[in-house]
Amino acid sequence: MLGSLFRSKKKSAPPAFATDLHSHLLPGIDDGVQTMEEALEVIKGFKNLGYQRLITTPHIMHDYYRNTPDIIQNKLAAVRQALADAGIEIELLAAAEYYLDEYFLELIGGEEPLLTFGNKYVLFELPFLSKPMILQEAVFALQTKGYRPVLAHVERYLYFGQDADSLYDLHHAGVIFQLNLLSLAGFYGKEVKKQAEKLLKAGLIGMVGSDCHNNRHLMALGKFLHAGAAVLAGQTFLNDTL
Ligand SMILES: [Fe+2]
Repeated sequence: MLGSLFRSKKKSAPPAFATDLHSHLLPGIDDGVQTMEEALEVIKGFKNLGYQRLITTPHIMHDYYRNTPDIIQNKLAAVRQALADAGIEIELLAAAEYYLDEYFLELIGGEEPLLTFGNKYVLFELPFLSKPMILQEAVFALQTKGYRPVLAHVERYLYFGQDADSLYDLHHAGVIFQLNLLSLAGFYGKEVKKQAEKLLKAGLIGMVGSDCHNNRHLMALGKFLHAGAAVLAGQTFLNDTL
């Protein structure tokens, strides 16, 4: 009896979802984990938190991270092999997090398919300082090609705090909003936390993600989930439909 009590106390609180869809876990190709050892440690941590599937999303950013589908797929294969060798059982998939700039527009219009997850979802991010002029153009271009745009960490663009109309326009245009769980934990500051809670309450959040880059992020995520993540109670997300 005591033994089972101890075990149940030790066991991680499961997240409300089994799939994470935003992270940087392929070593050495962006600002996420840098070594295979670190990748395995963080991925094992996700498994211990109750996650069953990770869709990892390396940056594709013309000026900094010129990742291609080939680079990402090759690295994915290497990490999968290392996971198998280490006996860590978890499903690992890869897509990308595209930075919205002129280069992204070129990629959308190009011959090579974009990296997607689920049902043609494409994760993309914006600059943090100001809303790009080409935002609507990019959303339209994505949709014209049959993709379903997912805006990464929507709560972190504080300029939308003063511009709710733009957010509602995007929402009504079919853009899915992804929220970082660590925003709810206050990891990026008070203002971001407030905006995250506001968007969640307004029912605007379609997907949640960890945006985990390293062990520090994983620890903070574990702390948030273990504390019960009460703010997520009653919410449903598309994570488990993928
Ligand atoms: Fe990210």
